[in-house]
Amino acid sequence: MKPKAIVYSKLPEEVLEYVKGHCDASCFDAPDSSPGSPFAEALKEAEGLLGAGLKVDAALLDRASRLKVVSNISVGYDNLNIPEISRRGIMATNTPGVLNDTVADTIFGLLVATARRMPELDRYVRNGQWKDSRDDVQFGLDVHHKKLGIIGLGGIGEKIVQRARFGFDMDIIYHNRSRNPKLEEQYGAAYRTLDELLAEADFVCLMTPLTPETRGMIGEREFKLMKKTAIFVNGSRGATVDEEALIEALRSGTIWAAGLDVYVQEPLPENHPLLSLDNAVLLPHIGSATRETRLEMAWTAARNLVAGLIGKTPPNLIQAK
Ligand code: DGY
Repeated sequence: MKPKAIVYSKLPEEVLEYVKGHCDASCFDAPDSSPGSPFAEALKEAEGLLGAGLKVDAALLDRASRLKVVSNISVGYDNLNIPEISRRGIMATNTPGVLNDTVADTIFGLLVATARRMPELDRYVRNGQWKDSRDDVQFGLDVHHKKLGIIGLGGIGEKIVQRARFGFDMDIIYHNRSRNPKLEEQYGAAYRTLDELLAEADFVCLMTPLTPETRGMIGEREFKLMKKTAIFVNGSRGATVDEEALIEALRSGTIWAAGLDVYVQEPLPENHPLLSLDNAVLLPHIGSATRETRLEMAWTAARNLVAGLIGKTPPNLIQAK
């Protein structure tokens, strides 16, 4: 008998076929885990879970007593309670590597779009305000030859640094849990304490995973340390930033602008204060959202799931710290 698995995100057809070849799969568009729901019933029997973003905590695990593998279709896994999952002998996996270049493209594009005010100027053209090309209302800030301060220098961070150094002649400073002498040499990147980085960087790019240590790590104090001309870019998770402090920093001119792909609440609620700020460029958490990369991520996650269910070690097993 094939192991039972729940697929709670939409998968490309060929990936779903592969999963169905190895598992008895139940598919759900929106996982409603309230007691008695079809999803909650399926959970009781499921040995595998495959999808993106579901909060897998002790309460959910209590209702999934046969679970062996939780396969996340993302590199970030702040939705998974890893200590709790590991304590129960369940494997958790993610999709590192395959999205590095795509997320770096998005985040670097966001940085340039914010500095050069591209979305705002797109609205300016569409609204019929383009009357005079010498109008300094159109001026942005340069990106090339400026200083990029990156917080979190993992696989994606390295690809951002590569684009900044070799594409835009930027100087690189970084802050990370540990120093990386290889990248320091390769990109001329200089290590800084967090406070030093915030004070020195023209662009502060936050790429750290969300953990208990990084939750709320950028708040009022940190924005005040940044230059008045600083551009803040968040490609990590919304909760690494105190969003109210960010809004205040943007309103008051404490920093110049922000480019955001992630928010405390996603999707961003209607009437959210960020929506009214012209100096905030807002993307709907699309770091890895290209057809090619999302297909690769789905394959990676599906292979992780199947490996775990057939008694092999999944290629991207998350190790509990
Ligand atoms: C991830 O995979 O964690 C990214 O946030 C996707 O964009």
